[in-house]
Amino acid sequence: MAIEIEQQPSVRLSKVAVSKTHGEDSPYFAGWKAYDENPYHESCNPSGVIQMGLAENQVSFDLLEDYLEQHSDNNSTSRFRENALFQDYHGLLSFRKAMASFMEQIRGGRAKFNPERVVITAGATAANELLTFIIADPGDALLVPTPYYPGFDRDLRWRTGVKIVPVHCDSSNNFEITAAALDAAYEEAEANNIRVRGLLITNPSNPLGATIKRGALEQILDFAARRNIHLVSDEIYSGSAFSPDEFVSVAEILESRNYRDSERVHIVYSLSKDLGLPGFRVGTIYSYNDHVVTTARRMSSFTLISSQTQQLLATMLSDVGFTGNYIKTNRQRLKKRYDMIIDGLRDIGIECLNGNAGLFCWMNLSSLLKEATKQGELELWKLILNEVKLNISPGSSCHCSEPGWFRVCFANMTEHTLQIALTRIQHFMDTRRG
Ligand SMILES: Cc1ncc(COP(=O)(O)O)c(C=O)c1O
Repeated sequence: MAIEIEQQPSVRLSKVAVSKTHGEDSPYFAGWKAYDENPYHESCNPSGVIQMGLAENQVSFDLLEDYLEQHSDNNSTSRFRENALFQDYHGLLSFRKAMASFMEQIRGGRAKFNPERVVITAGATAANELLTFIIADPGDALLVPTPYYPGFDRDLRWRTGVKIVPVHCDSSNNFEITAAALDAAYEEAEANNIRVRGLLITNPSNPLGATIKRGALEQILDFAARRNIHLVSDEIYSGSAFSPDEFVSVAEILESRNYRDSERVHIVYSLSKDLGLPGFRVGTIYSYNDHVVTTARRMSSFTLISSQTQQLLATMLSDVGFTGNYIKTNRQRLKKRYDMIIDGLRDIGIECLNGNAGLFCWMNLSSLLKEATKQGELELWKLILNEVKLNISPGSSCHCSEPGWFRVCFANMTEHTLQIALTRIQHFMDTRRG
């Protein structure tokens, strides 16, 4: 059981330790707790909470398991010493090469990655924090378009002392990021004497489940250049785009511009979503800025990946036959799941934003709100959690300024469980209508 923190520690702790900027008291994490206390299980606990608030990808585990079974290492004893002693923060070259080529493959070969620029980190969580430490000082700010992944409140702010200035996007244009919204957020920060050091985008977006279009990306890059700030592109869902052509990486735009002004651009990637391996803690920073690469490498001493994990994944990711088939099959399976939930919700009378990527959909329940406020949204969220026994994430936990939107994950469960969740929603809607 988790240890509950006393309100007043009897021995003084640091400001970071007692600060609330970790953001973990939001409904996003409270929903996880409700699931942990009463988890749904098909036979042992069929009336438990179904976890639809966790962006995990379990739809292609069979492919990974088959590969690992067929390639179990006969040579593990001789590698034991090698792995046990290796702790260079550059990481294994074989792993960096494999990661760079996997990142190219996932972008349909339309962008090149140099293994010398790949910095390895314990997941995207560490990568995003580490980059924030490098590009901003305490009190400075990063612009982040809303709605955004709730973990950013912790990753970008808590230990760095950096602020997040939201760039408000809304349903009037399908939550697209516009130059006007970016300028408004930048100018608001300036008016409050806050120095903006960078813009962080997530492409494909969590929680929208949509990719950022080429034109919008061009505008975002131009905005960063005009304001002379960094651009961090968190692309950890790139392999979840249902069609590879629909995902445009910032790396492709830089290549088409002959790397003009690329020093301000940094890409974050991890295997947590595309390979469904959050437990392996494998992430990278890919920066076009030499200084950032060197500093990030030094700082990565704090958050390395074990050499055993690097070794295992270097072999798997270098097998392009396996990775090609995995990427294709995984995309198809995610699209099938997406269609299943979207069609199911539509039959019940619930609409979602048009998505083309991700492990979740962005569902509009604004018509069910008693009052169109954050409070009204949270009341509905509590009802769905406690009565319907579904943990979905309220838009306000993603800093969405428009009440009534919810993120619903669909890839962390079986198709059968997803059907049960849909049936529960159907009953809920019938009762409300009745
Ligand atoms: C946009 C985004 N960035 C970063 C992370 C953290 O990923 P990791 O498990 O690689 O630390 C997540 C996890 O949900 C995410 O959605």
